[in-house]
Amino acid sequence: MNSMPALRNRYRFIDRAPAVSDACNDILAGLSQPRKCISPRFFYDDTGSALFEEITRQPEYYPTRTERQLLHAHAGDIAAALPSDCTLLEPGAGSCEKVRLLLDDIRPACYVPMDIAGGFLCQAADSLCREYPWLPVTAIAAEFNQFSAVDEAVPARNRVVFYPGSTLGNFSPQAATTFLSGIRTVLGEDGHLLIGVDMHKDADVLNAAYNDRAGITARFNLNALAHINRVAQADFDLDDFEHLAFYNCDQRRIEMHLRCRRAHRARCAGQHLDFAAGETIHTEYSHKYTVASFKQLVKEAGLAVTRQWQDDKGWFSVFLCQPA
Ligand code: AVI
Repeated sequence: MNSMPALRNRYRFIDRAPAVSDACNDILAGLSQPRKCISPRFFYDDTGSALFEEITRQPEYYPTRTERQLLHAHAGDIAAALPSDCTLLEPGAGSCEKVRLLLDDIRPACYVPMDIAGGFLCQAADSLCREYPWLPVTAIAAEFNQFSAVDEAVPARNRVVFYPGSTLGNFSPQAATTFLSGIRTVLGEDGHLLIGVDMHKDADVLNAAYNDRAGITARFNLNALAHINRVAQADFDLDDFEHLAFYNCDQRRIEMHLRCRRAHRARCAGQHLDFAAGETIHTEYSHKYTVASFKQLVKEAGLAVTRQWQDDKGWFSVFLCQPA
């Protein structure tokens, strides 16, 4: 972990990515539970981040294009609702694609993308700086919720957190409240949260979105094991597992799992792990919201919805929230 900010080309880079030993503990903790699980953070190595970008281009995966249309159509209106000279922070920024829809309208004093995949983030920051030469960029390699890294890098006033893509849905309700409370602290009293949220809808639409015909979501899901093989000296054979994703209507969430095709033993971080045929490893939830359930969620974190933009079908919303 580097402690000094490094100047790379045109942007400032701060590396706060967690050490590998943290990753091994996290992996073993999840895989040692009676119902095995892997944190979705292990989707996002450089390959996984690229696969996710590919998912967003699949015809069945409507959230990204719907949100992009909303941001494009309402960029002026959104910018008018934000303070001028704001510092725009984006946890989990990935390729920094969506922010491009807003930059010319918002004209932030600084843009701060954060992402766990440092290599991917640096590439994204570099191309952003070439495209927007007027924009100061500070890229932070960190977990999505490592807000301590922000305070050392960014002024406290006029912070706007941009959290598109309905990534909030990937948290359990309790973790979502904790995350939003962390954002509430980062915002201070004058900050804003601009957040994209995928809405509850017909199960067929949702099931198709997470089971694309080209099999990209399946590759994305399996790539978590390839990533773990590397960071935890594991020997998972990806052919021993298959992608499983379905909408749980009662809980209003997509559940993603890796289902084991045959009984076997694998090695991971110096330990042996036994798998039964048909056993699943839970890899991701993707919660969907109603307007009421989202308002209730932010309320629990000390925030209130002040504006909302939604597409004609009501499939996706962009909410502006402020400290309550
Ligand atoms: C990043 N996140 C919002 C995506 C989602 O839709 O929950 C991750 C994803 N998983 C499978 N497809 C996309």
